[in-house]
Amino acid sequence: MKTYLITGGAGFIGANFVKYLIKKYGLSAKIIVLDKLTYAGNLQTLENELDKIEFIKGDICNRELVEYIFTKNNIDYVINFAAESHVDRSIESPEIFLKTNILGTQNLLEVSKKAWLIGEDEYKVGVKYLQVSTDEVYGSLGDTGYFTEETPLDPRSPYSASKTSADLIVKAYIDTYKFPANITRCSNNYGPYHFPEKLIPLIIKNIIEGKTLPVYGDGKNVRDWLYVEDHCKAIDIVINKGTLGEIYNVGGHNEKQNIEIVKIIIDIMAELTSKEIKYREVLKTEVGNINENLIKYVKDRKGHDRRYAIDPSKITSELGWYPETKFEDGIIKTIKWYLKNQQWVNGVTSGNYQQYYDKMYNEARQNIIK
Ligand code: NAD
Ligand code: DAU
Repeated sequence: MKTYLITGGAGFIGANFVKYLIKKYGLSAKIIVLDKLTYAGNLQTLENELDKIEFIKGDICNRELVEYIFTKNNIDYVINFAAESHVDRSIESPEIFLKTNILGTQNLLEVSKKAWLIGEDEYKVGVKYLQVSTDEVYGSLGDTGYFTEETPLDPRSPYSASKTSADLIVKAYIDTYKFPANITRCSNNYGPYHFPEKLIPLIIKNIIEGKTLPVYGDGKNVRDWLYVEDHCKAIDIVINKGTLGEIYNVGGHNEKQNIEIVKIIIDIMAELTSKEIKYREVLKTEVGNINENLIKYVKDRKGHDRRYAIDPSKITSELGWYPETKFEDGIIKTIKWYLKNQQWVNGVTSGNYQQYYDKMYNEARQNIIK
């Protein structure tokens, strides 16, 4: 049995990864989730998994706590999803991004190094640290070209600068201490449990509520979208097959301008809600109001990166990863999920989800270390 320490496992990608592991490995994976439950962490997302995992509320920056977790468990893999993840918030308040994303990563590296080291530059067999990074470390592309693993690092927002710094610390541990680690750099994810401050879930939520749809600048910035389960699959493959010390880009060649994304969502939601009463009932507006008149061009994001596009040929040719979900299917699945899970959306937008942890705590269903 392998023991996974999954940090940030109550967030969007981390929680999807926990569900993916349980589905794939069942009881042969022991899963410990360490999450601070910031505004972006929602324990309710893991409601159906809580009897199969050990959940610990805590900060990846907390040395004592992370050491305690390693003392009590024979950790094989650390997968670090924990981060402040929203670019707009990093522009407003950069400091917490530096603390969590850089110092938190270094704390995890230091504790796992100490726990796994068995001799000079020698580590327990089979252990691995995986840093979940982002394509934003490469900066911004013009109209052509792709990010490869050799593209120079050129972060441009406080968020991407903090993620790049974290990558460099991981690389320093690999080069200096021969620390067993990989870095994955993925493009924009979408899918269930995505916090509705990010483009796709925000647009879905605003359409349901009959609100305007904010598009930054001219709407022609390009992002390269990947269904979250395909990202989870990539991480699983890199843990099991990735060559130690290597970096792997993850992306599915699915570039779209933001305005295209917004129009696709409008079209799908107008069709779904006009055809099916169960979806129509969710709307807080009339079906007839779902159209492009909702689009509102707003002030651009400061330093807004123009285009991201990943070249995933290394992970495909060396490890056999490929994306399984076509965008046309993934976006419909995602929209249907949000229409069916309004309770989850209302919980995270009202802040009520923060009380869920207290409820669970009182029911003594969790293992909490203070
Ligand atoms: P998210 O904001 O949805 O989740 C982050 C999680 O980390 C939350 O559960 C939060 O409570 C937790 N967290 C924050 N600070 C913490 C701390 N100090 N200690 C412990 N837990 C803490 O983010 P996400 O979109 O799921 O992203 C997960 C990781 O993947 C991040 O590292 C992000 O940089 C990276 N990434 C995201 C995308 C994307 O499109 N969302 C793409 C590529 C890479
Ligand atoms: O590329 C990977 C990154 O993708 C991850 O590392 C980040 O954690 C993740 O948040 C995401 O960053 P983006 O900034 O690309 O995602 P976001 O959803 O915030 O914005 C997507 C695009 O849509 C971007 O060009 C800005 C634009 N946008 C966003 C919002 C929230 C709008 O036009 N209107 C909006 O209201």
